[in-house]
Amino acid sequence: MILLPNLPFEKDALEPHISSKTLDFHYGKHHNGYVTNLNKLIEGTELSEETLESIIKKTSGKDDKTAIFNNAAQVWNHTFYWHSIKPEGGGLPYGPVAKKIDADFGSYDVFVQKFKDAALGQFGSGWAWLVQKDGKLEIIKTSNADTPIAKGIKPLLTADVWEHAYYLDYQNKRADYLDSFIKNLINWDFVNANLTA
Ligand code: FE2
Repeated sequence: MILLPNLPFEKDALEPHISSKTLDFHYGKHHNGYVTNLNKLIEGTELSEETLESIIKKTSGKDDKTAIFNNAAQVWNHTFYWHSIKPEGGGLPYGPVAKKIDADFGSYDVFVQKFKDAALGQFGSGWAWLVQKDGKLEIIKTSNADTPIAKGIKPLLTADVWEHAYYLDYQNKRADYLDSFIKNLINWDFVNANLTA
């Protein structure tokens, strides 16, 4: 049985960048829905006693387990996303990740450009990620429910670019949502904790 984790902030805490109405749907309906669907799909199977991470790894790439993978990965991705953002976040990085961004991308501005390019270049639904791969920071994007942890890649930060993440607040303007995500929402404490874990 997989449980829906609590949000790490109040539903109105991200306003005006992400509204409580968006969180009512995104967390209360979408994230919760993935948890409910996953539990129905694994009930009575050998996966029902596994951790979420284990379910994702065991079903990744298996044609007969696509529905389980999609729901499990979406549960994991959303929990990671809620921790990737915080009230009064965003802006310049600090701590170990700031040095690492300069070392691996050249500058914060290059990081921002690459992150936006990945997020805007993801056709349809998916996720943009800052990851650590072979010791270096990289920006990647994944489609639909796909998640770096299925491939053993360490995620540090994610932006949900499914329309349900931004449509009520920004309509079709994904770029405006991303600008706000970068300027006002990124939780660099979480990124640093992931980097040094
Ligand atoms: Fe989402």
